[in-house]
Amino acid sequence: MCGIFGVVNDKRASHTLLRGLKALEYRGYDSAGIATLQKGNISCRRAPGKLVNLESVVNEWPLSGATGIAHTRWATHGKPTELNAHPHRATNVAVVHNGIIENADELREQLKASGVRFFSETDTEVLPHLIALYLTQCEDPAEAVRYAINDVKGTFALAIIIKGIEDQIIATRRGSPLVVGFNVDSAFIASDMVATSGMADEILYLEEDDVAVVRADSVTITDSDGFEAERQRVKVDHDLFTASKGSYEHYMLKEIHEQPSALARTWEGLASISVPRSKEVDFAKLDKLQIVACGTSFYAGLVAKYWFERVAGLIVEVDLASEFRYREPPMSKKGGCLFISQSGETADTLAALRFAKSKKQYCLSVVNVPNSSIARESDYVLRTLCGPEIGVASTKAFTSQLAVLFHLVKKAAQQRKCGQDLIKSLGRSPEHDVVSSMHQVLMKENRIKEVLPLFKDATSAIFLGRGQCYPIALEGALKLKEISYIHAEGYAAGELKHGPIALIDEGMPVVVVAPYDRLFEKVVSNLQEVRARGAKVLLISDKLGCEMCKSYADYIIELPTVNEILAPFINSVAVQLLSYFTAVERGTDVDQPRNLAKSVTVE
Ligand code: F6R
Repeated sequence: MCGIFGVVNDKRASHTLLRGLKALEYRGYDSAGIATLQKGNISCRRAPGKLVNLESVVNEWPLSGATGIAHTRWATHGKPTELNAHPHRATNVAVVHNGIIENADELREQLKASGVRFFSETDTEVLPHLIALYLTQCEDPAEAVRYAINDVKGTFALAIIIKGIEDQIIATRRGSPLVVGFNVDSAFIASDMVATSGMADEILYLEEDDVAVVRADSVTITDSDGFEAERQRVKVDHDLFTASKGSYEHYMLKEIHEQPSALARTWEGLASISVPRSKEVDFAKLDKLQIVACGTSFYAGLVAKYWFERVAGLIVEVDLASEFRYREPPMSKKGGCLFISQSGETADTLAALRFAKSKKQYCLSVVNVPNSSIARESDYVLRTLCGPEIGVASTKAFTSQLAVLFHLVKKAAQQRKCGQDLIKSLGRSPEHDVVSSMHQVLMKENRIKEVLPLFKDATSAIFLGRGQCYPIALEGALKLKEISYIHAEGYAAGELKHGPIALIDEGMPVVVVAPYDRLFEKVVSNLQEVRARGAKVLLISDKLGCEMCKSYADYIIELPTVNEILAPFINSVAVQLLSYFTAVERGTDVDQPRNLAKSVTVE
């Protein structure tokens, strides 16, 4: 989604701003812009489309100056045109904004009445004018910004530069993240710390409604009550935040291949949390667990439901955050809530967490980005240690979430004295089995490429699964549609006859995810039903499953045999690779698929 970057005191500010934006590209955007203070005056360059367009504008009309702000915009109000691109400005103020101003129409009318002219269709454009208005009434620019945000309803992260004040950026946030970074010479503002990678040595996170005056060597922060506040500075772990494609063609492929090490690191990290924190969950005391998440993280939650219920005997409900937050469900007095989010910033998941907290629920979260809003607001946090995920389509974050959830399920089973036979059946080191089987799946790339003729020109595809592989069918369909733009749906195989089977026609690809487990024979019946109606079936299974179904499936991908509870881990890798190679074959933008954003910070 939109990205903000800013720099104070850098002789090559425009170059650094473009570098910051480059690092934010992965979040998804459709226009970009920068503004610097050149001898006290604000100058702006903006362009629709990808960053190369902005780079050529800046090459043609260079910007000098040592302080500036920059933005990648993911269109919400108004098309991705140059006029709608940020920064937006009044004569003496320029602003970049992430979020949505809900009362923009009302503010716009008020400002128009006082003679302001607007040029864009964006909600953001009211902000520089509002700040400019208050600058006529207050001597202190930070105070003018405080007055302006008091008038605003909605969510925002803002970086602001003011004509004639060359040595500072003013930054403020509500509901959208913003970090301030420092090195020995310069200061930075960013909506995502990845943007400061290789530049800032220390960072701090702004809190809700903070207003920060950022200078090269200092930051002055006032909190929501207007009192001066300190925010803790933390050292940047450069290794964790350096993201490069290495020798891979795309981040997504690299991240698929990183999964065995990401899982091993995540499990090691969980094992090393040796001192229980005061608020650690006790599953024995819970009568219900409510899981809340969006997209791929929601599917991780669905897998966990199967695990928790079967292994730990714990009732689990899984909800989409966007539904949960407005449904106002009654909450169990002995219940707990679990929020799953790679970014830790997804607006709906964060709002759902706040709702659950307001209902006095114990809130546990599984996040990848440290210090993200969801991490900071939860009672207890477990981290997936998979490093930054740059490809928009989630891969290693998903399986790392499964790794954390599997750890929690084992713990719950132990605390609730349940499912010990199932746990024993996993063997001495199920984690090791998962990691080594994942390596074997990654070696199946050539086999997976052989099934591409089935998908290359397809317009639709169906994924089927049962039990804990039903969420993997959903995830497979989501991966395929988001990066290859093929219309794909995932169904519980048993649900097929209740409607979806009408979609099946001659040659339609149907992917059946069915390890040889207690539900295998039932899935095989569903497989035969679609085949009888002309579908071309790809079976993803293990040795026994593939042997049993040789004559029923058109294509087979044989995966290593693992305990049935572990099957979601390795089947996920297979559907990821299938989607990836299909997208490459169809020539789509794999790492930044159209219309998508990595971190969905608006609802
Ligand atoms: C799909 C994908 C999205 C995210 C969803 C939630 O590949 O990445 O569906 O899973 O937007 O994001 P997080 O996990 O950051 O809350």
